[in-house]
Amino acid sequence: MAIIAQQCPHIKVTVVDLNEKRIADWNDDNLDNLPVFEPGLDAIVREARGRNLFFSTEVDKAIDEAEMIFISVNTPTKTYGKGKGMAADLKYIELCARQIARVSKQNKIVVEKSTLPVRTASAIKSILDHTGNDVKFEILSNPEFLAEGTAVSDLLNPDRVLIGGDITPEGNKASQDLVDIYANWVPKERILTTNVWSSELSKLTANAFLAQRVSSINAMSEICEKTGADVDEVSRAIGMDSRIGSKFLKASVGFGGSCFQKDILNLVYIAKSYGLNEVADYWEQVILMNEYQKERFTNQMITALYNTVSDKKITFFGWAFKKDTNDTRESAAIKVADNLLNEQAKISVYDPKVKANQIYADLDYLKTRKETENKSLLTVETEPYTACENSHCIAILTEWDEFKTYNWQKIYDNMLKPAVIFDGRSLLERKKMEDIGFIYYSIGSGITKE
Ligand code: UDX
Repeated sequence: MAIIAQQCPHIKVTVVDLNEKRIADWNDDNLDNLPVFEPGLDAIVREARGRNLFFSTEVDKAIDEAEMIFISVNTPTKTYGKGKGMAADLKYIELCARQIARVSKQNKIVVEKSTLPVRTASAIKSILDHTGNDVKFEILSNPEFLAEGTAVSDLLNPDRVLIGGDITPEGNKASQDLVDIYANWVPKERILTTNVWSSELSKLTANAFLAQRVSSINAMSEICEKTGADVDEVSRAIGMDSRIGSKFLKASVGFGGSCFQKDILNLVYIAKSYGLNEVADYWEQVILMNEYQKERFTNQMITALYNTVSDKKITFFGWAFKKDTNDTRESAAIKVADNLLNEQAKISVYDPKVKANQIYADLDYLKTRKETENKSLLTVETEPYTACENSHCIAILTEWDEFKTYNWQKIYDNMLKPAVIFDGRSLLERKKMEDIGFIYYSIGSGITKE
């Protein structure tokens, strides 16, 4: 919405949320306090806020005034009832639709921006048509393909914008209205229009394919470690095949983020609900491989530390699910930490952007142990060198650029020996680390041979 406001000064954009604190933070004069850390976003908010971009808790008023409403609420995996652990929870979508229906007095276009299962638009339409005040609604699907950390540039220069609408004169008109907004800055040939179902399913498919690439290269990373191949070399070699392409081939300790797992589980659930068990199993394997990669990383670390990490200090560099974001949802770090805490390790975490309360919240959410135990076993440091003092092992969980520039000799000197690095992102240079004296493990190329 900030980008739409910045690129279209003639359009008034109001972002509403029930959460007063969140809206107050979006309105904070100090742009460091924006609720989302995203490179470049602060400058966009500074430019558009108060001009044609507004943040408010007056939801009914904004609905009443709007010609077009984007529903952008979360659709987490269900934690209860039918479809628990797999299906998307559409509770918040339904509440939005009911509120829009109750308040609207004029015709409106409602845009699904949240990622949704196929055929959700028909549920929204049904609610709007049956509870509304004889107002006509057109429902569009406009899935978002931005990635965190690069959101601003992804939005300014998208590979494509996808708009799904009903193939009726009214549906086509609504689609065109949304096309016209994007056309203010996106070249026309990159704006695709489809039917609603194709649009909804394309979003799940894109995320499933991207995640599948990561799981595929992660599966190869284990073969590399066993055979003496180097996964980064394999990635480079296959990525030069233009049919394969070079992106999303970086082996890692496992993908995280708010989308991949949730969307694949959702896809699996949809496939199962149509009785397509082979299709469901196929996609589920992408998730299982990802879980396995996190387990494998932890187990190798325990083996390297002489089969016990009990009372040993292990330092985590990185907690976010990827660099340049403070988002930790489904981050591999959470699972690896939980596994190590089960083995009675003492963990010290340093992440350039993630705050201590978030790290504890992520662990407490798992309910593996008491909150007081998480607090006593894991500490959060605000300075990387202190985080490594007297540590047995450093685990790199996020590929923050700054980790590459540290004084690794100084870090080595202050660690217990043998000093071990477990690089879950193959971020550092093996030779440099080994020359300093570290035992160095990197995902997809194994551990220093002694
Ligand atoms: C993803 C999709 O890319 C985006 O189009 C969609 O809108 C939302 O979901 P995001 O979750 O923000 O975006 O990040 P992404 O860059 O896709 O990374 C997801 C995870 O995969 C991260 O944990 C990342 O570290 C990991 N990853 C990515 C790898 O391990 N290897 C890779 O080669 C690429």
